[in-house]
Amino acid sequence: MSSFESKVQEALANPKNQGEIPDADAVGTVGSPECGDMLRMWLKFTEKDGKRVIDRASFQAFGCQTAIAVASMATELLKGKTAEEAQQLSARELAGDLGALPPMKIHCGQLVEGALRNALDSSAPVTAPAATAPTLAADLNRQATGKIRIVPID
Ligand code: FES
Repeated sequence: MSSFESKVQEALANPKNQGEIPDADAVGTVGSPECGDMLRMWLKFTEKDGKRVIDRASFQAFGCQTAIAVASMATELLKGKTAEEAQQLSARELAGDLGALPPMKIHCGQLVEGALRNALDSSAPVTAPAATAPTLAADLNRQATGKIRIVPID
């Protein structure tokens, strides 16, 4: 087993933050037409030191093990971040300790990033400048040329 696979298995053995947050401030749902997988993310904000930060993040995945492992990592590292900070995180950063995803699994991380951005879009207005790194939003704008499509689901 590769070290990536063993990290995924480790995360799956004890996935964090699975399930709905009933009084969430934001929810985002996306699907990948490529593989049919879906992911929903909930965000709950709180006030800390005069800033509005993510208190809790949770997810439900109807998808592969990699998406679940990335979502588990991502929902942990989102805690304490402002919406602006969360907006800047790339799929690679959201995967945390899992490290770089293998090429076949990149869209699994993008599914998590897509659900986060969809949730943030439904939350308070974000005033930070757009991230400069390639993001899912950028990928969506390049849909015609790329192979990966992640779409918001109402
Ligand atoms: Fe589609 Fe992982 S195989 S999200």
